[in-house]
Order: sequence, then structure tokens, then C-alpha cells
Amino acid sequence: MSFATDGALAGARIAVTGANRGIGRALADAFASAGARLVLHAREPAAAAAVADALGAKAPGRAIAVAGDLRDPELGARLADAALGAFGGLDALVLNAGQLGPMQPLADTDFAAFRAVMEVNVDAQARLFVATLPLLRESRGKVIWEGRGSGRVIWMTSGLGHFALPGYGVYCVSKHAVEGLAKLAHADHGGDGIVSVAVAPGMVRTEMLTAATRGDVPDSAVDVEVAGARFVRLLAGLGPDDGGKILDLTNF
Ligand SMILES: NC(=O)c1ccc[n+]([C@@H]2O[C@H](COP(=O)([O-])OP(=O)(O)OC[C@H]3O[C@@H](n4cnc5c(N)ncnc54)[C@H](OP(=O)(O)O)[C@@H]3O)[C@@H](O)[C@H]2O)c1
Repeated sequence: MSFATDGALAGARIAVTGANRGIGRALADAFASAGARLVLHAREPAAAAAVADALGAKAPGRAIAVAGDLRDPELGARLADAALGAFGGLDALVLNAGQLGPMQPLADTDFAAFRAVMEVNVDAQARLFVATLPLLRESRGKVIWEGRGSGRVIWMTSGLGHFALPGYGVYCVSKHAVEGLAKLAHADHGGDGIVSVAVAPGMVRTEMLTAATRGDVPDSAVDVEVAGARFVRLLAGLGPDDGGKILDLTNF
């Protein structure tokens, strides 16, 4: 697939979590086509290496791999070190990886599972942001977005981050918290030039959507390549005035 967005992110240093499959993999492909340099995260080392190798073949020297469970407290430091070592810094952090968790009514909550999903979808996202913040601050005007603030952080939310549907359980709660984190990062660090937004991708054909809809994926759901191209347009146009916003990817 060729994108009208080719070159839109030329030289930008972008980290994507969960880049091995689903939306994250599509973002990696689209960002590479748009000229970005990529730190590609996956939980398993082999999966991270596979996506970095595949993109490195198309974009030599522009894709490196970082592996680890999101709950590993050292993951953020490893990701930051990798970005610094390979590319001299980081311009954008895309916090894509997340879990659906058990689909159950609130009254039936399994609290051990609830805590485990919150650790991945909320705690780990905050930790990754904090670990990469020094690099994001330093990105100011160096590569792209010259004169338009410093690094960007994109927190992946969902419609279920701003409304509730029956049976979505901890996923719904965690995505509300993700939107809180996006706003808090803006409140605390927007003044330093950090542009923090939450992005709801809309319905995208992935394993998570299949599980969430119990296989009954609506016709209106889009393929991951569509989400990837939209994300390039969103990221390339993101400016300081957007800080703290909750953005709907389907508008891009
Ligand atoms: N698809 C949609 O329609 C939709 C709608 C709204 C929001 N979203 C959001 O978009 C993001 C991507 O969703 P998706 O549909 O692409 O999901 P997906 O196909 O289920 O992929 C999830 C990704 O997150 C990774 N991940 C999950 N838990 C992890 C952990 N503990 N440590 C490291 N990696 C972990 C997975 O790694 P493994 O391969 O190792 O499991 C995988 O790479 C999520 O934040 C999701 O909530 C999606």
C-alpha cells in the first residue's frame, strides 16, 4: 500500500509500543513509510526483532527493537536508552499496547484480573511516559515540528475512555484513566512544550476488536492500514494547541 503521507514524518524519532501486531504493527509500517526512525517495542524479543527486521529491510538503519512486558519497571529506561543510543533522542512516544481484559459486568468483577489490567493499561503507560520524558523534553525543534513545542506523547484511548457500555469491565475503567493521564501530562508538562493527547482509533480490525465483539465485527470497522495512514496525518499535524485534547482518529 502506498500512502499519501510519504515523507510526512521524515527524520522523526518515534517509539511505538505493541508494534508486533494489530494497530501497533500498522503504525510501525505507516511511520516507516512516512520517513520516521523507529523504536519498536514488543513483549517478546523474537516478535520485536521480527518487526524491526522487516521494517529495517525497507528502511535501513531506521528501525530498532526493544522487548519486554509492559509491567517490567525497567522497560521505560531500556526504551529511552535504545532511542538515545540509536538515534540520539526521541521526538514522540506512542503508547499503543494495551489489553482488553475480562468482559464481565461490574458486579462479577474478578479483582485480581482487574488489578492486572490496570497495571498494563494505566500504571505501565504512566511509567513509560515518565522514563522517556527527559528525551521528549530535549526534542524541541531539533528534527521536526520546529518551533512548535517539544516531544509528543500519544496515549491510546477508546470510545470506552469517555463513555461506558455494559460488560466492558476494567477495560472501560482503564481507558478513562488513560484519558486522565493524557490530560495530567498536559497540565504538568504542557508548559515545557510537551504535547500530550489521547487518541481514540475508532473500530479497527484486530484481534482485540474480534474479542470485544465476540467475533461479530461491524462492517464499519476499518483495516489496520487505514488507521496507520490516519495516524501519520494526525501525528504530523499535532501542535501545542492540541495539548490535553482527546482526538478521534476517524477525523484524520
Ligand atoms: N482495535 C480497536 O478497534 C480498538 C478500539 C479502541 C481502542 N483500541 C486500542 O488500541 C490499542 C491497540 O489495540 P489493538 O486492537 O491493536 O490490540 P491487539 O491486536 O490486541 O494488540 C495489543 C498489543 O498490545 C501488546 N500487549 C498487551 N499486553 C502487553 C503487555 N503486558 N506487555 C507488552 N505488550 C503487551 C500485545 O502484545 P502481544 O502480541 O505480546 O500480546 C499487542 O502487541 C490498544 O490500546 C487498544 O485498547 C483498539
